[in-house]
Amino acid sequence: MRSLDDLSCQGKVVLVRSDLNTPVEQLADGTVRITDHGRIRAALPTIVDLVQRGARVVVLSHLGRPKGKPEPNLTLLPVAQRLGELLGQPVAFSPQTVGPVAQSMVAKLTDGDVAVVENVRFHAAETSKDDQERGEFADELAELGEFFVGDGFGVSHRKHASVYDIALRLPSAAGRLIEQEVEVLQRLVNAKERPYVVVLGGSKVSDKLAVIEAFLSKADRILIGGGMVYTFLAAKGFSVGESLLEPDLVTTCASYLEHARERGVTIELPSDIVVADRFAADAQHRVVSSEGIESGWMGLDIGPDSSKTFARLLADAQTVFWNGPMGVFEFDAFASGTAAIAKAMSDSAGFTVVGGGDSAAAVRHLGFAEDSFGYISTGGGASLEYLEGRELPGLRVLEDK
Ligand code: 3PG
Repeated sequence: MRSLDDLSCQGKVVLVRSDLNTPVEQLADGTVRITDHGRIRAALPTIVDLVQRGARVVVLSHLGRPKGKPEPNLTLLPVAQRLGELLGQPVAFSPQTVGPVAQSMVAKLTDGDVAVVENVRFHAAETSKDDQERGEFADELAELGEFFVGDGFGVSHRKHASVYDIALRLPSAAGRLIEQEVEVLQRLVNAKERPYVVVLGGSKVSDKLAVIEAFLSKADRILIGGGMVYTFLAAKGFSVGESLLEPDLVTTCASYLEHARERGVTIELPSDIVVADRFAADAQHRVVSSEGIESGWMGLDIGPDSSKTFARLLADAQTVFWNGPMGVFEFDAFASGTAAIAKAMSDSAGFTVVGGGDSAAAVRHLGFAEDSFGYISTGGGASLEYLEGRELPGLRVLEDK
């Protein structure tokens, strides 16, 4: 992959595609609060490097999933302001992504300045399946600068105009974050240090099918929690009450349990579950065996015995990858399982990687120091697709030319 070091960028306008897609919360007064800054921080090394080398940096990013038109609550303005605070210098903002307003802002930049343009997904062409439509938008983006740096690892699995097509139009290179993410994930792909333990959570099995298959031939133990576990419990013939269930995947989960047995891989499911009478922070809740959740109750976290078992199975791990919370960690009553995994990982002497926007946000939300983990990836879907062995368009395009 071409590196930032290959660019002679002094005095040049460098477009940097970062993934500043941070969780935001709407406040009662109509303003927006950024609830996790991890991705903004992760974007800094590339931007700082370019600033120090006298480039004029223009950051491109998406925020959320607007439907191809402006949505005021998904403006990047608060993110640009936060970026300025973290950089310790003013950051200009263009309320237009491309066109005359953006161009005139760029024209005013001097060496070492940083700017952000509005959410690239306010334009339907950014995510279009039509190459020409995407290409035309990429042309407009490319008009803003002289070089392109791909650094939005979290979005590198998307074939989008600001991720992929733009790199075909300008001399381009990979940023520091992408280099670092690839190095870490490559270490997981080649993991020699064992036991190799994978912890999977999050809401849906359907998002994790390919990665479970990939890990069935790589990992020694797969610990499963989160909303996805109820489809596995159903596959074992247990009733799951009102818990999240993907009925069409029960047979698939049963076949994973069978494959794991044949290959000597442990798939560990929770033995107890914290169930609630409704999905709410103040719901009534209690701990029950995972072998039968009564109707009227839904599982919202793994139980205390399961937390202990999972921690024990992590204690001697030499390589750990974790994607997806064990429960609804945003509600205190259902955060213990996720906290137990974070604690066991932070105590581990092995190489530990937290992958995925939600798990990364969870460890910070629960107050764990970032440096107690080997690495916290900014990529959710992107890290999973990388570990599945799929080709990521946003990485491939930085190798093509
Ligand atoms: C993410 O949050 O995983 C990335 O920012 C990509 O966002 P997307 O899933 O909306 O493409």
